[in-house]
Amino acid sequence: MGKNEKGRGFLDPSSETAALYAEASKFIPGGTSRIHYYFSPYPIYAQSGEGCHLTDVEGTRRLDFLNNMTALIHGHGNPAIKKALFEQIERGLAFSEPSEPEVRLARLMIERVKSLQKIRFSNSGTEAVMMAIKLARAYTGRSRIAKFEGFYHGYYDYVQVSFSSNPANWGPAEAPASTPSSGGLADSVLGDVLVMPFNDQKAVEGLLERHGRSIAALVLDPLSNKGGFPLPVEGFFKFLREITRSYGILTIYDEVISFRVDSGGAQGKYGGDPDLTTFGKIMGGGLPVGAVGGKAEVMDLLDPSQGSPRVISGGTASANPLTMAAGLAAMEQMTPPVYARINWLGDLLRKKANEVFAAAGEPAQLTGEGSLFRLLMTGEPITDYRTSIRKAAPQERFNQLHRNLLDEGVIISKEGLACLSTPMGEAEVDQFVKALERAVAKLQKG
Ligand SMILES: Cc1ncc(COP(=O)(O)O)c(C=O)c1O
Repeated sequence: MGKNEKGRGFLDPSSETAALYAEASKFIPGGTSRIHYYFSPYPIYAQSGEGCHLTDVEGTRRLDFLNNMTALIHGHGNPAIKKALFEQIERGLAFSEPSEPEVRLARLMIERVKSLQKIRFSNSGTEAVMMAIKLARAYTGRSRIAKFEGFYHGYYDYVQVSFSSNPANWGPAEAPASTPSSGGLADSVLGDVLVMPFNDQKAVEGLLERHGRSIAALVLDPLSNKGGFPLPVEGFFKFLREITRSYGILTIYDEVISFRVDSGGAQGKYGGDPDLTTFGKIMGGGLPVGAVGGKAEVMDLLDPSQGSPRVISGGTASANPLTMAAGLAAMEQMTPPVYARINWLGDLLRKKANEVFAAAGEPAQLTGEGSLFRLLMTGEPITDYRTSIRKAAPQERFNQLHRNLLDEGVIISKEGLACLSTPMGEAEVDQFVKALERAVAKLQKG
């Protein structure tokens, strides 16, 4: 596996991939436009996708457990999404004017997610988070935000703080340091972001007692991939809701990834009544998308019908009809039995994969919920970002396992993120588990 019918793998110096990457490196920094997909010495290049399979430019077919970073919940080439797109292409690619699919997708989202009264579309999760933070600032008249250590929310400046902290710079557990997770942030950004430890009620109480009245919003991913998918301890979200209200802080749930786990999103599963929620990924049916939705009194700061709105958002491609049509076709297929089935498959996969690690004596685990999972090279119970990395094996060991999985015909992200898609069934779960068994055995042989 991991080789085409000529027996050539993507790392072969004579491969198409090597040639493409060499060419890409002449024009694109590091040969890639997406840091999250780059891995050393270079990534595989996609040729085509069909259902739950992706074929690379070498002609090697693998099971795709990454699905464009979890965005393609129906895998590749879903017939209903293709049909909706072809029909929309016939009507027109893009207009300055709004179009019907936007209205229909807005209605569907509001009918499904309890905390939404209004919604506004954009082109990425990053834009959605940026818009939500601006709305919270305009609504509260405050400028600082709070977020949890190790949680990723896209690449708007104010959330590029402390998502990649490490033991050398992360400071005390009860008051994590604000560390820059990217160069190029304005000096003022770090001071404008309060970083808190997830699942630590006492620490959150202490930090908000000191800073709460200067904070506009708490941005929170209810199921954080970057944090290792720690689950909230009993009552934690309820506590957060109450304490943020008591300080006049808005809560923003970032459901760009977690919306996948339930038709009402992670908030439908774990509760919580956020003021605003951000979306992306699956909601666009595979096309670029983002959205912020929430309480009408906050969302109405965007309303231009009564004069100039308090918060300005634009976007030449925002709510473009292709994305809206694809998103609608994707979301309409996500009925409760479809969620139930794919989530059940996720539970099965986690159980079987964790049995593989236990049988091999490898301190590693699959975390996650529903159709989302993450491979972590630590046996520690995951309660927050620090537990996900403190005792983890060196990165090189994970890199090797990732490579072994690719060789065994399975795609996951270079950080261990993975997901199921609706064309998958028990057969694909079994293929994953067998591939993992071989990949771990190879890793342990050295
Ligand atoms: C939780 C979360 N928020 C925001 C984003 C940013 O979304 P996008 O990549 O569409 O800008 C991501 C992307 O992975 C994410 O996982």
